[in-house]
Amino acid sequence: MSVRKHRVFVTRQIPERGLQIIEDRFETEVWADLAPPSKQVIVEKAAKVDALASLLTDKIDSEVFDAAPNLKIVAQFAVGYDNIDVREATRRGIFVTNTPGVLTETTADFAWALLMAVARRVVKADNYIRSGHWEVGWHPTMILGRDIYRATLGIVGLGRIGAAVARRAKGFNMKILYYDVMQNPDLEKELGLKFTDLDTLLRKADFVSIHVPLMKETHHLIDERRLKLMKKKAFLVNNSRGLVVDEKALYKALRGGNIAGAAMDVFEQEPIALDNPLLTLDNVVVAPHISSASVETRSRMAEMVAENLVEFFGGKIPPNLVNRDVLEVRKPG
Ligand code: GLV
Repeated sequence: MSVRKHRVFVTRQIPERGLQIIEDRFETEVWADLAPPSKQVIVEKAAKVDALASLLTDKIDSEVFDAAPNLKIVAQFAVGYDNIDVREATRRGIFVTNTPGVLTETTADFAWALLMAVARRVVKADNYIRSGHWEVGWHPTMILGRDIYRATLGIVGLGRIGAAVARRAKGFNMKILYYDVMQNPDLEKELGLKFTDLDTLLRKADFVSIHVPLMKETHHLIDERRLKLMKKKAFLVNNSRGLVVDEKALYKALRGGNIAGAAMDVFEQEPIALDNPLLTLDNVVVAPHISSASVETRSRMAEMVAENLVEFFGGKIPPNLVNRDVLEVRKPG
């Protein structure tokens, strides 16, 4: 049996190492534009394939599944998969996979890049020089930031990425609080973490870093009431999903001086509109959803997408299966 009989639509040009494997094994079509395919395009392409290699910008829901009688697997190029209606996929016997693990350290690094950039005003400092403002030489009160060393870090969501962020915080001698739906006594011991409820964490932390997946329960988890609990000198860092934070409430908190600053790699709407008021604030650092964007990690993610497809069509349970319940509905392959 040649596996090449299976057809795959890859919704964007993913790094070569993974794409090559997919192209070698499957009849492959790749969406070549930088911009995502429209919903209509996804529906049309899905109608003709056995597999989708999807990105977090692609909404994969009943409309897609209805049009795709042969679709057996959606292999997501991301750890988060809130863009996929997994329940519906499971019900229809469609496998869903993601790319966990490989991007943990890269994403944790970027949470720290954001945290340090906003605390020490790195973007402001860079702009300051480039725009010709550095005229008076060194000055004792020029571009003052806040200390990170020995401050209190509050981690919201102690999954792989949250834990990797905590590990780095040890080097900064920080006091580390965390909140999660599940307590993790082993990590508490290993890293000296303290579990608290979310409201207490927000009251006590100097830096709050968010690492929860987007779900019904985490939508606007950080809302107006919770932002009000934070210290005036505290910073919010988010590189999970934009919708975990109520952006309008965040703007109000930043504008009103309720919190000191925020750094985000993710937004309620992506790309963020240029007239979003958050972009008018200079205590905000922003990035265009690039937390896992290192050469090595993106390449490895593409390989994982390929591995999931190859294993699945080889009749095996794909290594990064998200919906194990699907095995009760259908066998791999
Ligand atoms: C990126 O946001 C991911 O979920 O991998």
